[in-house]
Amino acid sequence: MSVHVIILAAGEGTRMRSGKPKVLQQVAGKPMVSWVLEAATGAAPERTMVVVGHEAEAIVAVLPQGVETVLQPQQLGTAHATALAVAALEPADDDTIVVLPGDAPLVTDDMVGQLVACHAGNAVTLVTTHLDDPGGYGRIVRGETGVEAIVEHGDAGPTELAITEVATSIYAFSAQHLKGALERIGSDNSQGEQYLTDAVGLAVGDGESVDAIEVDLPVVGVNSFDQLAEAADVMRARINSEWMRQGVMMLDPARTYVDASAVLSAGARIYPGVHIEGTSTIGAGAQVGPDTHVHDSSIGEDAVVRYSVLDGADVQSRANVGPYASLRPGAVLGPDSKAGSFVELKNTTLAAGAKVPHLSYIGDATVGEDANIGAGSITCNWDGYDKHHTKIGAGARIGSDTMLVAPVEIGEGGWTGAGSVISKDVAPGALGIERSPQKEIPGYADRRSKRAESDE
Ligand code: UD1
Ligand code: CA
Repeated sequence: MSVHVIILAAGEGTRMRSGKPKVLQQVAGKPMVSWVLEAATGAAPERTMVVVGHEAEAIVAVLPQGVETVLQPQQLGTAHATALAVAALEPADDDTIVVLPGDAPLVTDDMVGQLVACHAGNAVTLVTTHLDDPGGYGRIVRGETGVEAIVEHGDAGPTELAITEVATSIYAFSAQHLKGALERIGSDNSQGEQYLTDAVGLAVGDGESVDAIEVDLPVVGVNSFDQLAEAADVMRARINSEWMRQGVMMLDPARTYVDASAVLSAGARIYPGVHIEGTSTIGAGAQVGPDTHVHDSSIGEDAVVRYSVLDGADVQSRANVGPYASLRPGAVLGPDSKAGSFVELKNTTLAAGAKVPHLSYIGDATVGEDANIGAGSITCNWDGYDKHHTKIGAGARIGSDTMLVAPVEIGEGGWTGAGSVISKDVAPGALGIERSPQKEIPGYADRRSKRAESDE
């Protein structure tokens, strides 16, 4: 006997009105269906079959290798979707079929493992949970002997609506029972859909063994952006607790947003308002935030990044970033370097100890070791058609408000005068200055004020 998992992911999620298939909505940077696939491993399944329909190609694109799909061209209900998957799997009668909804990101592999362990010998084992607000979910109707049926919200009467134990759409079935039940499930209900929930009542009616396990699942299926935010909240707490257990300090975990794919090191300190997304990594002793957005970027050991936006940046050990820096793709900050306040870097490498302290745009450039770029300097990297490179040698001193018209090179130890438009290379150790001589006009202020008086 084998275990197979079916994941239901064909629906559109009309209640979100987003155009995007519901199961691709992300929780902690990961599509809901991917969370469910991870939980499915708790069943140690032989095969995993995802039912796709609405925007099938987009969903198939996020599925890992080895996961199979079956197309449900029309969403006629959860039982219809399950029947198509069962037909594709052709399970043996003594196989176990685990069904998971694609919109339940908080389900864990432990829950699924527990379900399979409890299922042995049952026709159906279902997972339930208690909700303060059970609105919209299928209600668990219990009698003297246990669960008797699941009644959908739209089909429930007042007594049933008062029930707070709800169906999670997570089940383990004996394949034999499931096949028999699916043949008998109709669509004579308020939504005119084939409900998989009916398989429970059918098993009870047949005198088969039905068992239920209760789990703590604060958000069951995500049907609205409200519920998506709630699920993200729970996931955030799970992820942050785990990092804190591993030695990461978070000053306010409720305001710290770490994607499932990010990697943090013990000893990092994360201030409130920080988003760490994608493949980002944070080194030991690094301080990140407050109010910082880090996407696909690495922050090295003991680096400090405050009030900044990083996208595709590599900030190495002890580098100092912000406040209010924008590090765009290809920004590489070597050890002990600095991109200070109101500094934008793009496709630019700062070698060790190089500093861009204030109000600068440096793009398509390499800046040598310990070079210093004065406030307000800009690489004019775009000539209106093409991008050009600027090379600044080690130890160079770029005067404040220098315009570096690329392509241009400042040699090692070279200087530029403040306010210069540098369009020709500057030799190593030389000063490049481009500035008209200052004139002095004595007595100007007095003459100017007399003119103002005579105008009155
Ligand atoms: C379903 C359950 C309800 C339970 C709730 C838990 C039924 C009839 N109801 O309700 O008892 O409390 O989940 O979240 O099963 N899907 C398909 N094909 C279809 C219909 C749905 O693949 O034809 C997929 C959806 O993409 C979704 C999942 O099945 O991922 C659940 O469908 P949904 O419409 O959200 O079911 P609910 O009405 O929420
Ligand atoms: Ca749902």
